[in-house]
Amino acid sequence: MSLGPGDEDLIRVAALARQRAYAPYSKYRVGAAIRTRRNKIYSGANVENASYGLTVCAERCAAWAAVAAGETKDWDAIAIVIDDERLPTPCGACRQVLVEFAPDLRVILATTGGLRNVTTLAALLPEPFRPENLA
Ligand code: THU
Repeated sequence: MSLGPGDEDLIRVAALARQRAYAPYSKYRVGAAIRTRRNKIYSGANVENASYGLTVCAERCAAWAAVAAGETKDWDAIAIVIDDERLPTPCGACRQVLVEFAPDLRVILATTGGLRNVTTLAALLPEPFRPENLA
């Protein structure tokens, strides 16, 4: 897949959020930004803790921001940005959180140095466990 209109803007928002990452332990700073179909953007960065297991990834911070703003559907895309030689990839826990709200999400992977890849959550998380499974 390729980048669409507004995707570079979404990457820029994620890169800005990344600057606010709190990652003193891993030093691995991640920014994420979710765009809805109505063009609202919610961003987040990873937040670590001295009790390491309490760390929350950037993708989940962005997801919580969207949900806390009342946006629980119609998410169009997420951009994830790191400053590295290789592209980021969302962890399994974040894939599962994202699929709760946006099974058709486009996933834009980017580095501050200009690497880009566009994929889908469906490709990253086949056969997901979803709310329907509980019905
Ligand atoms: N992290 C993210 O924020 N997103 C990912 O997709 C992978 C990992 C964070 C968690 C932790 O703060 C650091 O990166 C190293 O695992």
